[in-house]
Amino acid sequence: MKRRDMLKTLGIATVASGTGGIMLTEAEAAELNDALNIALDEYAFPWDPADPDVPGRMNIARVPDDYFMPGRFAGKNVIVTGCARGMGADAARRLAREGANVVGLDILEELGAETIESIRAEGLNAAFVPGDITRDSDCERMVSYCVETYGSLDAAINNAGVMDALHPDEEIDYPNQRDRLMARIHEAGDPYWNRVMEVNVTGTFYSMRHELRQMMKQNTGGSIVNIASVAGIRGFGGTPPYVASKHAVQGLTKNAAIDYAPYGIRVNSTGMGTTITPMFKRAFEIIRQRIGTGFKDSGISLAKIESLLQYSDQNKMGSTSAEQVAIMLFLLSPEASNITGATYNTDGGFSVY
Ligand SMILES: NC(=O)c1ccc[n+]([C@@H]2O[C@H](COP(=O)([O-])OP(=O)(O)OC[C@H]3O[C@@H](n4cnc5c(N)ncnc54)[C@H](O)[C@@H]3O)[C@@H](O)[C@H]2O)c1
Repeated sequence: MKRRDMLKTLGIATVASGTGGIMLTEAEAAELNDALNIALDEYAFPWDPADPDVPGRMNIARVPDDYFMPGRFAGKNVIVTGCARGMGADAARRLAREGANVVGLDILEELGAETIESIRAEGLNAAFVPGDITRDSDCERMVSYCVETYGSLDAAINNAGVMDALHPDEEIDYPNQRDRLMARIHEAGDPYWNRVMEVNVTGTFYSMRHELRQMMKQNTGGSIVNIASVAGIRGFGGTPPYVASKHAVQGLTKNAAIDYAPYGIRVNSTGMGTTITPMFKRAFEIIRQRIGTGFKDSGISLAKIESLLQYSDQNKMGSTSAEQVAIMLFLLSPEASNITGATYNTDGGFSVY
């Protein structure tokens, strides 16, 4: 929409005979609109930031997918929830490559076992616990398995999370799953609300409860990183329990930071923007199928979809899993000794504009 039409729609520049907005003569309104159009359209977009022909244009050099720091977690016993695929799988692998003994938990039993086996095949230390973080007993088992297998628990990445109430590998069939899929509040089903809140909030709480019990028992300090989202600091249309649950993950993080600082335990979170993983691809498949049913909303969520770095990238490339994992591990490591209760918005600048 042209800026001029937008202003008219908003009633900002109505002519004297109009019913709302600032009262202007027709000539004054035209003058104002032209001035704003010049200011906002032409000068605000003098060149395409992604245009490779602009002198000096350069993409950010990204952390390579296989980058790791040898020995950084040598001998540390670390839990990763949601280890079967996506960022959890990449975090588990990089931790093991950096010397950690990794215990991974996932509800996807076969894939979780395969992922951990592929880490072990590199000659690294990792073990798999099948489980669902919404079950307190599974979270307890995850921690006791880590202690029995490796002797203690030093750190944890609570990464398992969902955007909808489908089983993570369930085939998407939007018309028959509406009560479990993303929807605005007036259309949202109980199963959708309950499952997303249960996994992202209660599951993170259960995971932390057992991890912290063990760390308190050991009295050797510790470090926890909870995986929230940029949806934990702002709204994202059409995903009410996801947004509410990720705000809650930030809240749990801050609360735990206060309670456990005296015991040498740091608790932080990451607020990542969209990152290409199976979850992301599934979310877009759901949106694609939903559009196929004739669904329409205001579309405001789609008005801003690119991060600052993606907008500026010559290939419009978004965040990579390796970039997210790099920050998770930094926060988990002793290098972040002065950081607790913080959220690192690993969103390519999405939330700054
Ligand atoms: N991909 C993104 O764009 C994005 C953006 C912001 C935040 N996040 C968050 O990052 C985390 C990882 O997401 P991802 O993109 O790698 O997703 P993913 O779906 O690829 O991986 C999530 C993993 O969690 C597991 N899981 C789900 N529910 C579980 C449960 N109840 N118990 C145990 N395991 C369970 C899944 O089986 C899967 O292996 C999530 O918390 C997600 O909300 C993702």
